[in-house]
Amino acid sequence: MSNYHIKHLEEYFKVYRKSVREPEVFWEEIAEEHFIWRKRWDNVLSWDFSKPEVKWFEGAKLNITENCIDRHLRTKGDKTAILFEPNDPNEEAQHISYNELSERVNRFANVLKSKGVQKGDRVCIYLPMIPELAVSVLACARIGAVHSVVFAGFSATALATRINDSDCKMVITSDGSYRGAKTIDLKSIVDEALEDCSGVNTVLVAKRINSDINMVDNRDEWLQPLLDAASDDCPVEVMDAEDPLFILYTSGSTGMPKGMVHSTAGYMVQTAYSFKNVFQYRNDDIYWCTADIGWITGHSYIVYGPLSNGATTVMFEGVPSYPDFGRFWEVVEKHKVTQFYTAPTAIRALAKENLEFVDKYDLSSLKVLGSVGEPINEEAWHWYNDNVGKKKSPIADTWWQTETGSIMIAPLPYVTPTIPTYASLPLPGIQPVLMDENGKEISGNQVDGRLCIKYPWPSMARTIWGNHQRYKETYFSAFEGKYFTGDGALRDAVGYYRITGRVDDVIIVSGHNLGTAPIEDAINEHPAVAESAIVGFPHDIKGNALYGYITLKETGEGRDHDNLRKEINQIITEHIGPIAKLDKIQFTHGLPKTRSGKIMRRILRKIACNETSSLGDTSTLLNPEVVQAIMDNAL
Ligand code: WTA
Repeated sequence: MSNYHIKHLEEYFKVYRKSVREPEVFWEEIAEEHFIWRKRWDNVLSWDFSKPEVKWFEGAKLNITENCIDRHLRTKGDKTAILFEPNDPNEEAQHISYNELSERVNRFANVLKSKGVQKGDRVCIYLPMIPELAVSVLACARIGAVHSVVFAGFSATALATRINDSDCKMVITSDGSYRGAKTIDLKSIVDEALEDCSGVNTVLVAKRINSDINMVDNRDEWLQPLLDAASDDCPVEVMDAEDPLFILYTSGSTGMPKGMVHSTAGYMVQTAYSFKNVFQYRNDDIYWCTADIGWITGHSYIVYGPLSNGATTVMFEGVPSYPDFGRFWEVVEKHKVTQFYTAPTAIRALAKENLEFVDKYDLSSLKVLGSVGEPINEEAWHWYNDNVGKKKSPIADTWWQTETGSIMIAPLPYVTPTIPTYASLPLPGIQPVLMDENGKEISGNQVDGRLCIKYPWPSMARTIWGNHQRYKETYFSAFEGKYFTGDGALRDAVGYYRITGRVDDVIIVSGHNLGTAPIEDAINEHPAVAESAIVGFPHDIKGNALYGYITLKETGEGRDHDNLRKEINQIITEHIGPIAKLDKIQFTHGLPKTRSGKIMRRILRKIACNETSSLGDTSTLLNPEVVQAIMDNAL
């Protein structure tokens, strides 16, 4: 029996039971057999969820890039590590071998060092999906710098907030990016952000669109000449198991984005393990995850998971709709992709288009399909299964989070029978539980509750950068002794999990997590706005869309509402990014509040979702009269 690669259902149950009975032995065996360690650990796990403090493989020394690159060179040096598919289908794809990746990462690492970046320093990476993004991530890891990748769709303000929060001293960016038919001037976004970031002393700029950009003296430098001049040999920095590998920001329901801090050893072991099993990865496979490396899915399942298994991982610069809606399938055919991992929102968008866009292409190379980021509805599941998988490629509906680092609940293709909309069973090593509102564990099946995890797993985030207290409050305080995910779930008669969605004020729009508070804060900056409340409502393609209720100050009364709507969305775009724009904006003369002054979002959510027959008791409100007025004018 192999712990590492599970091939049958009985084997899954056996391994799963062992992982619960002896979690430390289970993870230790995986760690022992599949990685290079500079020094073995003294202790597999120590933990205390009340602090919370979790340490895996303490005392071990390693470098993750040695595991993702160097150890493959002898046997797989010429194998393609990264297969880069550009935005423009007429531009040639790049096959970057493990040898070449090694050379590029080493050179980049030496450039970072020459610019004074040291172990433990934070480096912000704000790049489009070009090879330099993966290379710079790995270069940071090679020298022990903590990378903080910020998705290149975020605005200057959002970028500045993230740079300052973790005190980055360097930003790596590009002159611009291609996105479908558009080009985006990334560098000027960085310039604007850096007006508020005094700690950044170096900006390295990759060339992608050859635009004429502004370079600031003594701060900005073109990357390529530096790489050309650097040595291609950079010895790894030997890291402690628990040294931070990266920070990745995720939205919270309140306040600042949370900089989730991931560790080195635990993250490596579990992303590698989950990649192998969830994608049933085999040596000659061509694996493609369509996410952006700016999100956790890209970190774990474009970069670290695949490369630590010596896989070929496709990196796609473009969008599913360019030059037409057949692009994904054209790429699958062209590169004979075997595993394809995408988000429900993309599936729903493509399902709306003519089937010819799919049927035109030979998709027979596909063996495994994946879905991530939000619940996949039944219709989208069937469309994916019928038209892309041709009913022969199992769909792995993978549930996990930025905070969990790795996939937690998912069927193992060809092992676990799939049911539409069910993420199914936990991966070995993962112990989910459902809790009721009174903090009691709900046992048995055919129940629903709040999804928690009751035992530590290696790739869990260790803290929120600079705010351990918030980490504790957000994840370890709702249910004593358990990690609270923020999601609701149900468990069916056979023990399969179905994730039902967020139970907090995070709304998932097109797979992006958006906290309501930061959006409201942005809106409230508008001089005419007195107060606002954001809720989600169902949307055909995006899963959820945003509905804003806004009350105006007296000075705003009488202003043209359509203009105000535009201005409000403009402010949101500036503060957060276009992904957080509101689909509907209703101006109201008040928001329903409790006697203690809290906005009753539950009521607003029901009105936005057109579920006004079940509003519940509104008599305890401070101002019950506003509810009827809001209902009468609902959009
Ligand atoms: C949601 C993405 C249902 C969930 C890897 C979670 C899902 C949040 C699924 C994390 C799924 C993710 N089914 N819901 N298969 N996968 N989610 O941090 O609400 O961007 O808490 O991580 O997405 O989003 P994040």
